[in-house]
Formats: sequence, C-alpha cells, structure tokens
Amino acid sequence: MRAVAVYTAEREVRVINHPAPSLTSATQARMRVLDVGVCGTDREIVSFQFGTPPEGSDYLIIGHESLSEVVEVGASVSKVKAGDLVVMTVRRPCPHPSCVACREGRQDFCYTGDFTERGIKQNHGYMTELVVEEERYLNPVPRHLRDVAVLVEPLTIAEKSLEQIWTVQRRLPWERPHRAVVLGAGPVGILGAMALKVEGFEVSVYSRSPNHEEKNRILDAIGVPYIAAETHSTEDMAKTVGPIDVVYEATGASSVAFEVLKHLGPNAVFVFTGVPGRKGPVPVDTDEIMRNMVLNNQLVLGSVNAPPQAFQSAIRHLGVFAQHWPQTLRSVITGRFPIEHALEALQNQPGSVKNVVAIAS
Ligand code: BGC
Ligand code: ZN
Repeated sequence: MRAVAVYTAEREVRVINHPAPSLTSATQARMRVLDVGVCGTDREIVSFQFGTPPEGSDYLIIGHESLSEVVEVGASVSKVKAGDLVVMTVRRPCPHPSCVACREGRQDFCYTGDFTERGIKQNHGYMTELVVEEERYLNPVPRHLRDVAVLVEPLTIAEKSLEQIWTVQRRLPWERPHRAVVLGAGPVGILGAMALKVEGFEVSVYSRSPNHEEKNRILDAIGVPYIAAETHSTEDMAKTVGPIDVVYEATGASSVAFEVLKHLGPNAVFVFTGVPGRKGPVPVDTDEIMRNMVLNNQLVLGSVNAPPQAFQSAIRHLGVFAQHWPQTLRSVITGRFPIEHALEALQNQPGSVKNVVAIAS
C-alpha cells in the first residue's frame, strides 16, 4: 500500500510502498484511511526539524490528523464495527510502570518522555491506505460529519485546553471566565475560536496573517472579530477587547505571546499550545510580567496532546459547529490532495487554511 514517508538520514520525503498491516490481536481493528490533515508539526517533520522513525526503521510514515473507516474488527472489539467512521488518538503510553499518567491512560501528561506518537515520534502515522490500531485508541464519529471529521484532532488541542481552563478556574467559584482572545488564525486558532464561542465566551482573534481574506471570512461568519497584529499593538488590542479572562495561544509566535501576557485581566489564565522553533533570545520585561502576574493572580500553562475525553468533546463540538455554521465549517478545509500530491499539501500555500490528503472516498 502507498504511504508518505520521511527518510530522516537521507533527508528525503517520498510516497513509498509499505506492507499493509493485518490484525495481530482480538482487541484491534483495521481501518482504511479516508482523510489525513496536514499541520505545522508535519511541515517541521518534512523539513527534518522534528519527528523520529520507529526503532529499526529508516523512515517515518507521517500523518496524525486522521479520519478512517473500520473494515475489520478483532473478536473482542465492541466499540466499533465494520463501516463505522473513527478518529484515532495520537499518543501511545510509555512502558514505565512508575509513570502514573500513562498507566491511567493519560499519556498526554507522560512523565518520562518515552511515549510514542503516531506520525511524529517512533510510531508510523496515518498518511497511508490501511492502519491497524487497538480499540481503546479509536473514537467513533457520526456519519454526518464525514466531510469535516478530519478536523477533530486539531480541535482536540482546544478541547484539552478548555478542560485545563475549567479545572484551574474552579479557583474562582463565582463565575465562569467569559472574555477570550485567541492568538493566531490558523486552523488551531479558528477551531479554538469556534469552541470558545460555543462555550459562551466573547471571543476575539489577534493574529499576524498575510493573505487573511479567507480566515477573515470564516471568523466573520462565526461572529468573531479579527484584530490584525500588523496594525494593532498588543496594547491597542487589549484596549479594544477589554479585560481578558483567557488567552488561547495557537501560533508558536513567542514574542507576540509574551507581549500579550502583559495585558491579561485580573485572575486570567493564559494557555500556550504553540511550539516555537528556536530563533534565539528575545528581550522581555520580566519585572513587568512578574508584577502583573502576582498583582492579578494570573496563571500561565502549557498544554500538549490530548486524551480520549478531548477527542469525544471535539466530536461533540464539531457536531454543534456543523449545525451552527455548516458552510463555514466546511470552508476551513481549503485544499484536498490525492496521496500522489501529498508533497503539495505539505507546502504552505498563501491564503490556505487546512490542507487535507484525501486518501480514499
Ligand atoms: C499534535 C500532538 C502532539 C504534538 C507534539 C501536535 O501537532 O497534535 O498530538 O503531541 O504535535 O508532538
Ligand atoms: Zn509515561
């Protein structure tokens, strides 16, 4: 079967022929992959800055944002049956008995760093025709979300962040936070803005995006104002928005993020989700940030990966988005490419939002 493989030593990316997998235990299912989304992590992997092949392999099959259809299930599988649509989680637990997070099925909080991630770290991904996976990593998706369910995984970033926000803001038992700023207007930012909106937040997006017409159109349609970082300083933005309760950072642009950190409202929480490349030191006014944080009871947290619960809430939220904004939701996917053209999907076309490799229909 065909697969998109990154050869790290040779620094090459190719569509290859890879042996098709079959079931090896009664707790597994075999899926045919329908759609695989492409994100910044994939772009880093195909430019050899990130990503590790499985042990003993000189290449890594990429792809971690997926939608598949079950074709066959092992004898003890009960969650899904042939014909069902599923989205698979990304991270697999580390082997260490002492890692309570992994032992509890919360490898998104792994302590040891010896987890694997499909399509990213020591585990082949989904940009291929057939995959086999354990039942517990499958999340069933209703058929009516067929066209958009590849967006579940990028939405889980916001879902895990929301889970974290609700958990930490229980320290303020009198009201839910209500004013949110999303940093970045890529797919993670847009999907995050939708989730925050549906959760009742007043949402604004602050972003530096050349060619942002399509992004603007999407945000307009969901009633989220776009504030351009090219023309508005972080100070202007904070004045326009009013006291900020939550910042959902979805760019990996650390200098902008730390600027925004200075303008949080009282008792606010700031969630970092981007993974910036190392571009060298940037000066920040640490006194100002520390003073504000202490004098305003603020909290900064980082969040990576997502547990099954976040996949389930993403699937639920996607259903709500599809009801509120059917056209707009579909328009988040701006490009579909056959597997032979996967390398084009991996390039960042100006103005595109989410590129998808459409492997089967
Ligand atoms: C994926 C996460 C993963 C992270 C770091 C992201 O693109 O969505 O599942 O944990 O990259 O590898
Ligand atoms: Zn672990």
